[in-house]
Amino acid sequence: MSLCYAADAQRTETVEMKKVRLSFTLDREGAPLYEIAFNGKPVLLSSHLGFVLSEDSSFYKGFQWKGVERASLDTVWETVWGETRRIRDHYQEMVVHLEKGRRLMDIIFRVFEDGVGFRYVFPRQPDLKYFIVREERTEFHLAGDHKTFWIPGDYDTNEYPYTTSKLSEINNKELVEKSTDIAVRVAPDEYAVQTPLMMKSAEGLYINIHEAALVDYPAMQLHVDRASLTLSSSLVPDAVGNKAYLHAAFSSPWRTVILSDKATDILASKMILNLNEPSKVAGTDWIHPMKFVGVWWEMQTGRSTWSYSDFPDSVGSNGGLIPNGRHGGNTANVKRYIDFAAKNHIGGVLVEGWNTGWEDWFGNWKENVFDFVTPYPDFDTRSIIDYAEAKGVHLIMHNETSGSATNYERQMDTAFRYMQRWGYTSVKTGYVGRIIPRGEHHDGQWMVNHYVRVAEKAARYHVMLDAHEPVRPTGLQRTYPNWLACEAARGNEYNAFSNGNAPEHETILPFTRLMGGPMDYTPGIFRLKGYSTVPGRQVHTTLVKQLALYVTLYSPLQMAADLPENYEAHADAFQFIRDVPVEWDTTRILEAEPGDYITIVRKEKGKNNWYLGAITDEHSRTTTLPLGFLDKGKKYQATIYKDGAGADWKNNPEAYSIEKKVVDSDTQLTIRLAEGGGLAISFTAF
Ligand code: NOJ
Ligand code: CA
Repeated sequence: MSLCYAADAQRTETVEMKKVRLSFTLDREGAPLYEIAFNGKPVLLSSHLGFVLSEDSSFYKGFQWKGVERASLDTVWETVWGETRRIRDHYQEMVVHLEKGRRLMDIIFRVFEDGVGFRYVFPRQPDLKYFIVREERTEFHLAGDHKTFWIPGDYDTNEYPYTTSKLSEINNKELVEKSTDIAVRVAPDEYAVQTPLMMKSAEGLYINIHEAALVDYPAMQLHVDRASLTLSSSLVPDAVGNKAYLHAAFSSPWRTVILSDKATDILASKMILNLNEPSKVAGTDWIHPMKFVGVWWEMQTGRSTWSYSDFPDSVGSNGGLIPNGRHGGNTANVKRYIDFAAKNHIGGVLVEGWNTGWEDWFGNWKENVFDFVTPYPDFDTRSIIDYAEAKGVHLIMHNETSGSATNYERQMDTAFRYMQRWGYTSVKTGYVGRIIPRGEHHDGQWMVNHYVRVAEKAARYHVMLDAHEPVRPTGLQRTYPNWLACEAARGNEYNAFSNGNAPEHETILPFTRLMGGPMDYTPGIFRLKGYSTVPGRQVHTTLVKQLALYVTLYSPLQMAADLPENYEAHADAFQFIRDVPVEWDTTRILEAEPGDYITIVRKEKGKNNWYLGAITDEHSRTTTLPLGFLDKGKKYQATIYKDGAGADWKNNPEAYSIEKKVVDSDTQLTIRLAEGGGLAISFTAF
């Protein structure tokens, strides 16, 4: 490490790793500027860095060099679970020390083979102690008008469908207005988009912008200046319009720019995980990724209800709620799912609507909604728990907060003690509704801290966490490996209660939302039409594509979301869901193009079995797959689940065929995926 001091305003410092080059300078006004090039070509033109602070409204200029430190790292670390067992962390680092009068700010740049991460650091210092971030002024000045895959920059939701347009054409207004299927929408800037933002240049360069290690800070959305093609950070505000309350020493989340001329490398990038802290959870042997089924899709599709009664004031002469006769979370029905899970070696059963409060849980912005410990009268906890235990199945707790985070914070210990008492090893949380504290947003600093507090609390009670409607993930699953999954995007459930997800949706998600971490997408719907009480609803995929999603959309917690009877009607296809693991030794992204197709193959953790998933958008596609990833000289039984003759997502989604074949690493398969279709293959070593 070298330390050098200079006060030269013309000075430029660069860091390079293979094709990626980062340069940093101060302009004549002392404004920090950086640039990024890939393969000698500019990707980000001169872009500003800095802040508007309560203590200094122009903490983006007037800086002087104080020094530069350089370091590098090349190491390998082991994951607790994930897409690969080992991850290489290899970067060149440059820390730029800046001063403005007596105030100090450092910027740490890490340059990897596949991009750049940088963060701001406010060292401990006498003239900047407690302060407020009014704006962050980080820019990403793009060198071209790229094709962009975006959702609106909404303070409260990530559940929009994706739009593909040029950067210069971004405008979210119409989409936000018509998205009445999303419970809470607050998107005041029609030119703001959410991250991870995926772009592709005309020359075929793939650019992904996101953030890593979002802790104690609001989420960064991006405001698009359509004329200059500059994106600038737009932090989600708090109830009084401030962005963040900081106390030096403080390090901001990392801003990430992932780059490659291959789309497959974007999906394979581990930069965001590498920029997160190692596990803070001491002892992780209680963390067990698993598949699960749930008393859930039947509610989403209107066949049963979360609530026990239809109205909160529908009480009988004894003061108790009058049952509506359609309550899904009843003892007999829960046992039916436990039976199904046990029979099919599915680890968990989620039960929603088990606790009181669902009669008026949503839409009233009321603070005290659920107590997280009181079951409905027809949910016999003792008998259900004993039954599950006898069958070796774990029940998954459901804690819907309806956005009332204050209520949850007050009851969290009680809720987790309850889980501990009854042996629940995982919890699905939910934040449907306007946030309480009132005026806060799902993606603001207060809620960002709340989600982390829940993950920490869960770890203390040895509970695994799956958060629905939280801020989108930023790789914190490395630091909190019990935080298995999040929703934070438009899940499969939209096919149940809205017009659904376009066939291209799942080909975009891995390039956007999943860059930050696993998604509880809830795949595995087999009955793709006629499942809803609302006529015309359908899932926009074939059945085989639902199978392929278990490979292409990674999650250590994977739901088999359909009803037991729909799986029993297709036991041969369900075999793939029974077999597919949730933890992997290795992953290879074989082919990918955002918005069009993805083919991924993964090797089961600790075993010599491989699983392949391939999906396409609304276009059919023939894929040629050399099986060179298999061990040389070994024979494998391949079970090939493919779209049936005449299958397509719209008219004939449930047609499939299954073929068994002995293959080895010299085999090449050529298989057609239907419109909106997929392909799933298991390779079992002999
Ligand atoms: C939204 C979640 O995404 C969904 O899975 C859940 O069933 C409902 N909220 C109710 O909590
Ligand atoms: Ca497409």
